[in-house]
Amino acid sequence: MAASTSSKRNKFLIPILMAGLVALALYLFDRFLGAHMVQGAYPNVFRIPAVILWALLAYFGVRLLNAALFDFVFRVRRGYEAPTLVRNIFTLVSFTVLFVLIFKSFYAEVNLGALFTTSAIFGVIIGLALQDTLGNFFSGISLHADRPFQVGDVIAVGQQKHTGVVEGITWRAIKIRTFQNHIVLVSNSNAAKEAIEVSPRDNLNARLVFFDTLNSDSPAKTIHVVREAVRDADNVSPKITPIVRIRGFGDSSIEWEVKYWLNDYAKYNDSDALVRQRIWYALRRNGLQLSTPQRVIELERKRAPRPTTPEEQIADRLSAVDIFSPLSTEELQKLAAATVGHVFAPGETLIHAGDEGSSMFVVHGGRVQVQVTENGTPRTVAVLNEGDFFGEMALFTGEPRTANVIAVEETEVLEIGHAAMKHLFETNPDLAESISWTIAERRASLAAGSQQLAQVSIDESAGLLSSIKRFFGLR
Ligand code: CMP
Repeated sequence: MAASTSSKRNKFLIPILMAGLVALALYLFDRFLGAHMVQGAYPNVFRIPAVILWALLAYFGVRLLNAALFDFVFRVRRGYEAPTLVRNIFTLVSFTVLFVLIFKSFYAEVNLGALFTTSAIFGVIIGLALQDTLGNFFSGISLHADRPFQVGDVIAVGQQKHTGVVEGITWRAIKIRTFQNHIVLVSNSNAAKEAIEVSPRDNLNARLVFFDTLNSDSPAKTIHVVREAVRDADNVSPKITPIVRIRGFGDSSIEWEVKYWLNDYAKYNDSDALVRQRIWYALRRNGLQLSTPQRVIELERKRAPRPTTPEEQIADRLSAVDIFSPLSTEELQKLAAATVGHVFAPGETLIHAGDEGSSMFVVHGGRVQVQVTENGTPRTVAVLNEGDFFGEMALFTGEPRTANVIAVEETEVLEIGHAAMKHLFETNPDLAESISWTIAERRASLAAGSQQLAQVSIDESAGLLSSIKRFFGLR
């Protein structure tokens, strides 16, 4: 940032300084040689240095004008960097015109027109030598006239499909930064002959991601599950809902495509990968299966189908959760049998604030963060690790979810529903009391706006306990 400001300053400072120096030289030249900078007033011998000095002055003047026009006026009015090619053409034309004027004012007797027309052979030689360069130059001009793309757009050029973000267009070539961070230069004349696929920066560009599921899986369920998982991923535009549709039927699979729109198309590789990851987790959570070619499926089936989590392990995990510690082994086993395991990807939202909720969760593996949004800014109120629980507030009070809960890393949770808890409350009246304390503490901490636990009064907790009992129909 600092480097670019100083380079901008140099663009103005250097021409001003140099123009000042040249003007001073011209002044001294005039003064000490006693000649006047008026047409024809120089003795012949001083004309050449005078023309050179005037040409230098014109050169720095044009550079200054170029900087003022393109670094300032163009940027402010159009909001983006002026193309290098346009700047170069401007400099070349302005300087040529000024030089001809200066030359004419010193050598009025020389007929420049005749000079150019009589040098036709010279022109042919130069033309042949510069054939490619001029081809690139004019193709560059026509590219600019069409304005098919701008710096920052993603383009794919030609049969070799050079794909990347446009970094610049010069008089010779288009500079593309590929997604492997290489620079590819495609000459303007080649680009003008090839098809160019442009994904403009300020456009909602879409991507297609493919996957297959087993043909025994319900299409309606797959569409719902995948669409919800994809729309929640980073960089997926919220303006258009992703489309999930069947592309065809394989031997034992349904072939799907997901079409989604991106906020920033230049990051489509990462977004495609994230979308595939989300699809994997969402299918798995919902009992749907990705299908791979037949021979792989058989190999996989020979291995024992992966249980979400063995029941002993779950019972073990639940026994370590403080609110469940008073439960007997038998009760823990029953509770374990009633839980459902889910796996979430890093960054996925498990609970949305404001939603209805009739279940709570125990973190079986991984980590989640509890976030509230204040004045549009998210604030993390707690990070919960293995053995911690969340979602109890809505489950036990019937109120909407109080916060967002987001997976920090790959996280496996055990979901416990209303029915399982009601059954436990009937056999363990003390359970409701310890839960009411936790809820009161968390509520107070939410209200206090800090991660420290706030003071909870006995009255508050007692009030909560009676509302939990009412909600669960307990005495
Ligand atoms: P619920 O309101 O159902 O959904 C969001 C969950 O975030 C909430 O239940 C609690 O389990 C959890 N939560 C809210 N505030 C806190 C907090 N201060 N500390 C820990 N967990 C919290």
